[in-house]
Amino acid sequence: MIPILETLDSRYLTAQPVLDKAWLDTAINETLASIDAMLPRFTDTFPAASAHEGRYPAVEKVDWTEGFWTGMLWLAWEVTGDDKYRKVAEGLLDSFEERLDKQIKVDTHDLGFLYLLSCVNAWRLTGNTRARTLALRAAELLYRRFNATAGVIQAWGDLNDPARQGRMIIDCNLNVPLLFWAANETGNDDYRQAATRHLQQAARYLVRNDASTFHTFYLDIHSGQPLRGDTHQGFSDSSCWARGQAWGIYGFALGYAHTGDTALPELSRKLTHYFLNRLPEDYVCYWDLIFTAQDKAYRDTSAAAISVCGLAELLKQLPLTDPLRPAYLNAISLIMRHLHADYFAHNEDGLLREGVYNFGRDMGINVPNLWGDFFWFEALVRLSRVWTPYW
Ligand code: GLY
Repeated sequence: MIPILETLDSRYLTAQPVLDKAWLDTAINETLASIDAMLPRFTDTFPAASAHEGRYPAVEKVDWTEGFWTGMLWLAWEVTGDDKYRKVAEGLLDSFEERLDKQIKVDTHDLGFLYLLSCVNAWRLTGNTRARTLALRAAELLYRRFNATAGVIQAWGDLNDPARQGRMIIDCNLNVPLLFWAANETGNDDYRQAATRHLQQAARYLVRNDASTFHTFYLDIHSGQPLRGDTHQGFSDSSCWARGQAWGIYGFALGYAHTGDTALPELSRKLTHYFLNRLPEDYVCYWDLIFTAQDKAYRDTSAAAISVCGLAELLKQLPLTDPLRPAYLNAISLIMRHLHADYFAHNEDGLLREGVYNFGRDMGINVPNLWGDFFWFEALVRLSRVWTPYW
């Protein structure tokens, strides 16, 4: 079945103040000040996935998240031209190289998050050939996770583990750009075909008929038959994890940029309406879209920031005459203003307070999460200038 398009809530039809240059400059300067405060502590280590008591612990090669720090450094370099950010980002290439050499935490689809934001961007922005080589090695590892019968990239773990085979996740929408990039760099069309097929399978099986999303979905790797959807980080298998929906909004919009498939922005639009229609009064989502105000659930500010980047990408792709453009711009303004006014973490590590990493596993709850910081900064960069995405 083709997912439905919900009618967008009328609250998005009321004109909102635009995020003008003065507002954006202020937010960017505050963001840079926080990054500057963290910079001396994270030159050969990385901030952990989640802050603890106002500080990010220092880690290295332990998670899917280290690239968000280098991603922020490259954004800061692009915005300011100040080489202090570039120097640290380039120094951290050693860690990304060692990760590949020693095969540390690379049995994951998250290679895109890691290497797009540390190596592909370094290569694109400065012509760093070492970064290009590392990114191509990571792309090859990601490609090996693709199962041609199921048509999906296995999310996690050993490729020979039957319990994990054929499992895809919505987050991977942001990782397949590593394969599109590698296809363009090398001329190897296998990378493009795998990435395109994975996106098609994600559109077909991860999106439910009401345009909400499963976090993960299993296919049989021997027959290619769909098996079942479930969740890893959402409230339940049948609910809609807010960050997963945001990964979908953004990833399907990006998919159009890589494939030219016009069905993808329309799918992104459907996920967007589902998401926006379930936002609370302050437009910052609860960590699962099943919650309403009476549940008093935590927010996930990181999902809010990702959704803004997705909306901004979607707006790039829609015709200027699209009647809902003003409504999407209103949504961006509402989410960004509320994030800034009520959730910006002045004087702490981390840019956005009140993210949720994994509620079920008691990880990173109601604290800044590193990817939330990255996507907040990316949103500001996208909204303030012409910018070539790292994705
Ligand atoms: N990609 C993992 C997460 O969003 O938590």
